[in-house]
Amino acid sequence: MITIDPNKLPEHVAIIMDGNGRWAKKRSINRVRGHQQGAETVREIVRTSREMGLSWLTLYAFSEENWKRPQREIGALMKLLKRFLKGELEEMQENGIRLQSIGRIEKLPEDTRKVLFDVMDQTASNKDMVLTLALSYGGRQEILDATRKIGAEIEKGNISADEISEQLISNSLYSEEMPDPELLIRTSGEYRVSNFLLWQIAYTEIYITPTLWPDFSKDEYLEAIQDFQKRKRRFGGTKEE
Ligand code: IPE
Ligand code: IPE
Ligand code: MG
Repeated sequence: MITIDPNKLPEHVAIIMDGNGRWAKKRSINRVRGHQQGAETVREIVRTSREMGLSWLTLYAFSEENWKRPQREIGALMKLLKRFLKGELEEMQENGIRLQSIGRIEKLPEDTRKVLFDVMDQTASNKDMVLTLALSYGGRQEILDATRKIGAEIEKGNISADEISEQLISNSLYSEEMPDPELLIRTSGEYRVSNFLLWQIAYTEIYITPTLWPDFSKDEYLEAIQDFQKRKRRFGGTKEE
């Protein structure tokens, strides 16, 4: 039995959804079919998160480095994203889910961007959960973009260098109000963070599972949350905080 303590829920869960290609390879089918199946997992995990009462869910959907992939795969992913957004809008509205995105969104193809902005606009006043899609996202690029933003403020004379604080850096990232994740999940068994939320995961608990993303189930998600609830977080101190 998987039992979740509703009083010890993480406020923010972030997920590196990896393993779609390997899932397809195992079945000798096209990688794109793996991404399609992965999109089904996304639906299930978003739904479960909302049912659980999570406030923030962030999904790594496309990295800045993923632009290096073959044009065909990129095209298929963009098309899939568009279809996913259109298909999820109604359920997001019913469940009070607000969609936002982080990353260099301006690099996405125009038609994908249009659907993305449309769904973000339509869900903007929803209050129950924030679903953040990391698209064309890189953690280093995010820190770089924040640094440029702060630099511009200094140039304009609005702030001085010694006024730069951790808080100011946090607030200059792509999503100003997003709290740091308490739990980071990575599927497909790779022990790396692949340029995801570098600044924000300073004290995040990490859960890595060998399960490939298309096979990641609701039960395994709940297990990850349960595992998190047993951890003792010390933040460098001696006592649990
Ligand atoms: C994750 O699956 C999805 C994206 C990065 C878009 P992959 O496509 O990376 O799958 P593997 O790692 O090749 O199995
Ligand atoms: C990380 O997966 C990016 C996403 C899940 C979108 P990758 O498959 O791109 O990462 P690496 O190449 O294994 O580090
Ligand atoms: Mg991968």
